[in-house]
Amino acid sequence: MKYEQINKVKELLENDKNNISSMNELNDLKVKYLGKKGLISELNQLIRDIPNEEKKDFGQAVNEVRTLFNNFYDNQKEKFETEILNQKLANEAIDISLPATHISTGAPNILEKLIEEVEEVFMSMGYDVVDGPEIEEDKYNFEMLNIPKGHPARDAQDTFYVEGEELLLRSQTSPVQVRTMLEGKGETPIRMICPGKTYRRDDDDATHSHQFMQIEGLLVDKDISLSDLKGTIDVAVKKLFGNDIETRFRPSYYQFTEPSVEVDISCFNCKGKGCSICKNTGWLTVAGAGVVHPNVLRMSGYDPKKWSGFAFGFGAERLAMLKYDINDLRVFYNTDLRESKDFDREEDL
Ligand code: DAH
Repeated sequence: MKYEQINKVKELLENDKNNISSMNELNDLKVKYLGKKGLISELNQLIRDIPNEEKKDFGQAVNEVRTLFNNFYDNQKEKFETEILNQKLANEAIDISLPATHISTGAPNILEKLIEEVEEVFMSMGYDVVDGPEIEEDKYNFEMLNIPKGHPARDAQDTFYVEGEELLLRSQTSPVQVRTMLEGKGETPIRMICPGKTYRRDDDDATHSHQFMQIEGLLVDKDISLSDLKGTIDVAVKKLFGNDIETRFRPSYYQFTEPSVEVDISCFNCKGKGCSICKNTGWLTVAGAGVVHPNVLRMSGYDPKKWSGFAFGFGAERLAMLKYDINDLRVFYNTDLRESKDFDREEDL
C-alpha cells in the first residue's frame, strides 16, 4: 500500500518530465516534489507509520525517487543553462566580416590653406589681416590708385561693371590699400595684408579664371625704400617655400607704384637649373610690387614728404599651384572633397 504510493509519485514524475520546457517550469517542479509539502517530502512523512523493520527499505525506496528527481533536475538545469548561454552568445555576436562604416572627414580647401599660411607669415612680422568689399567703387579700384578715367591701364583689367561706370567687381585687391590709408587718416603707420577675391572678364581655363584671389600687402611708415620691400618679400618667400629660395626683382610698371617691380623666386623644383615648371628659366614670377607712388599716398591723405611705403600683390592661386604642384587652377573651385583630400599632404605623413 505504502509502496504503491511511491510508485504513483514515480509515475507522476515520469509524466511530468516530458512536459518541462523552461527553467521556470523546472523550478515549479522542484517545489512540487521537494518543497515542504512536496510529493517526495510527503512520502517521507509516511515513514512514521512503517514498522521498524521495514523502515530501512522504505527509506531507500523514497531516496531512489529523490535521486531520480535530482538527476533529472540537474541534467535539465544544465541543458536550459547551456541553451540560455548559447542564445545570449548568438545575440551578442559581432559579425567582423561586415564592411566598416565609412566616415567622411573632409579636408581644408587647399587655396584656403595657402592663404592661411601667408597670413601666418605676415602676422609674425606684425601685419594686420584686413578685408575690403568685392563690389567696389571705381574711385578706389582705379582713380585713387593713380589710374584716371580713360587711362589705357584700365583696359588691361577687363573689369566687370555692376552699375554704370561707378560700381564694379574689384579687378584687384589694391583698392584695399586706399581704404586702409583713408582709415589711417594720414597719421598711423600701416602694415596690412588683404587676401581676397577679384574678378576680371576672362575665359576660364587651366591658368585663367573670371574669379581669382590676390593677396595684397601695404606698408606705410617713415623712410621706407625698395630695399625694405626686398627684405620683407625675401623673408616671406623663404618661410613659405624654404630657406634655399632666392628672390629677384625685375623692373616693371604699375600706375600706383614707382619704381615698380615683378617679384621672381628661384625655382624650388630645379633650384634654378631650369625645368618644365620654370620653363627652363630657373625663376618663377609670384607677385607685382613697388614703392607706393607719391600721388597715391597724397590722394589717400598721407603726405609723401613725410611718409613712404611699399606695396605688393601676390596671385594666390599661382602660389598654391607652385607650392602644391597643381597644374589646373579650376581644382580650387570645385567642391569635390576628393580633390582636397589629395592635396592634404599633412594627413598623408
Ligand atoms: N594689383 C596688381 C594687379 O592686379 C598687382 C600689384 C602690383 C599689386 C603692384 C600691388 C603692387 O600692390 O604694388 O596686377
